[in-house]
Amino acid sequence: MGDKKEIQFNYPKEPEAVTFETPFGKFGIFTCFDILFHEPAVVLVSKLQVDTVLFPTAWMNVLPFLTAIEFHSAWAMGMGVNLLSANTHNISLAMTGSGLFTPEGPTAYYYDSGTEEGCLLLAELSAHPCLSPTYPPAVNWSSYAASIKRFPGGKDTFLGAVRRDIFTFSELRHKTGNYTVCQGDLCCHLIYRMSNNSKDEVYVLGAFDGLHGVSVGCICLHTNHTKTLVHYYLNTCGQPVETAETKFEMFSLSGTFGTNYVFPEVLYSGVQLAPGEFEVMGHPGAVIFLQGREWKRITHLNIHSE
Ligand SMILES: *[C@@H]1O[C@H](CO)[C@@H](O)[C@H](O)[C@H]1NC(C)=O
Ligand SMILES: *[C@@H]1O[C@H](CO)[C@@H](O)[C@H](O)[C@H]1NC(C)=O
Ligand SMILES: *[C@@H]1O[C@H](CO)[C@@H](O)[C@H](O)[C@H]1NC(C)=O
Ligand SMILES: *[C@@H]1O[C@H](CO)[C@@H](O)[C@H](O)[C@H]1NC(C)=O
Ligand SMILES: *[C@@H]1O[C@H](CO)[C@@H](O)[C@H](O)[C@H]1NC(C)=O
Repeated sequence: MGDKKEIQFNYPKEPEAVTFETPFGKFGIFTCFDILFHEPAVVLVSKLQVDTVLFPTAWMNVLPFLTAIEFHSAWAMGMGVNLLSANTHNISLAMTGSGLFTPEGPTAYYYDSGTEEGCLLLAELSAHPCLSPTYPPAVNWSSYAASIKRFPGGKDTFLGAVRRDIFTFSELRHKTGNYTVCQGDLCCHLIYRMSNNSKDEVYVLGAFDGLHGVSVGCICLHTNHTKTLVHYYLNTCGQPVETAETKFEMFSLSGTFGTNYVFPEVLYSGVQLAPGEFEVMGHPGAVIFLQGREWKRITHLNIHSE
C-alpha cells in the first residue's frame, strides 16, 4: 500500500515489489487497492518492467470511477501491460467483475451482479505486449495540453460532488457540441454527437483537479434526472446509474494532464466494457470513440491520471 497504513493488519516496513520470470514473460504481483498507488503498482511497470501483473482482489464496485472491470481495464491500458484480475464473487458485497486485460483492452471479462455463479476465464495473451505490432503508441499528454485551445461550449458551470470530490460541471445541452470545462490546472475537452437523446437523461462534462487516490479526472457522466435535479443528484450522491437510452455517434474526450499515467474508462449501458470500440490516440492525446457498427448507449466516460 502507499501512505495510508491499515494498522490493524501486519504491513511491510518498506513496500515490496514482487516479480518473477517465466518462459512467457516477466510477472509482478500486487493485491486490491495497491493498484491505486505509485508503489508498488507503477514501480512494477516503469522500473521493474513487468509484462503481466497478477492481481487477486476483493473489489467492491463503486460507480462512476471504481467499478472493477472498468477501473482494472483502464489500468492495463494506461500502464501498457497485461493485468490478470481475479476478483472474489459476492453479489451482496457488490464484489463482482474479473478479467484478462491488455494494453489494447479486455480480451475476456466477467461481470454478473445477478447470480452467485463464478466463471473461469480463458484467453490467449501476448507474453510481451510491448513487442506486439498492435501495441498502442505512447501518448505525450503534456505536449497535447500545451497545444489545445478552449472549445466554445461549457462556460455555464456549477459545482457538484461525485462521492466526496467536488467537480466543476457543465451540462451537455445539445445533440452535438464542443465543450471545455476547467478546474485548477486541469481542462477537459469533449467533442460529441448524440444520435437521439432521451428526454429523461442528462449528461454533464466535469473536471476535478485534486487528490482522491486517483488524482485528477475528466468525466462525462450520465445522470438520471432533469436539469433542476442535477445539482440535487450530484450533491446528495444519488443512486449510481447503470443504464442509459441516449445514443452517441461519436465522442472524443481529452484532458490536460501533467503526467503520462492516464487511464481511460468507457462504460456502456448495463455495465459493459467496450473492447476495441475506442482508443487512446497519440495525437491529439484523447480517448476517441471509434465510430462503429451500432449506436452506443454510454453511461460513463472517464479519464483520470495517477
Ligand atoms: C458474501 O459475503 C457475506 C458477508 O461477508 C457472507 O455472509 C456470504 O456468505 C458471502 N457469500 C458468498 C456466496 O460467499
Ligand atoms: C512531451 O512533450 C513535452 C512538451 O512538448 C516535452 O517537453 C517532453 O519532452 C515530451 N516527452 C516525451 C517523452 O516525448
Ligand atoms: C468542433 O470540433 C470539430 C472537430 O475538431 C470541428 O470540426 C468543429 O468545427 C468544432 N466546432 C466548433 C463549433 O468549434
Ligand atoms: C432512439 O432511436 C432508437 C432506434 O432508432 C429508438 O428505438 C429509440 O426509441 C430512440 N430514443 C429516443 C429517446 O428517441
Ligand atoms: C431513472 O428514473 C426513472 C424515474 O425516476 C426510474 O423509473 C428509473 O428506474 C431510473 N433508471 C435508473 C437506471 O436509475
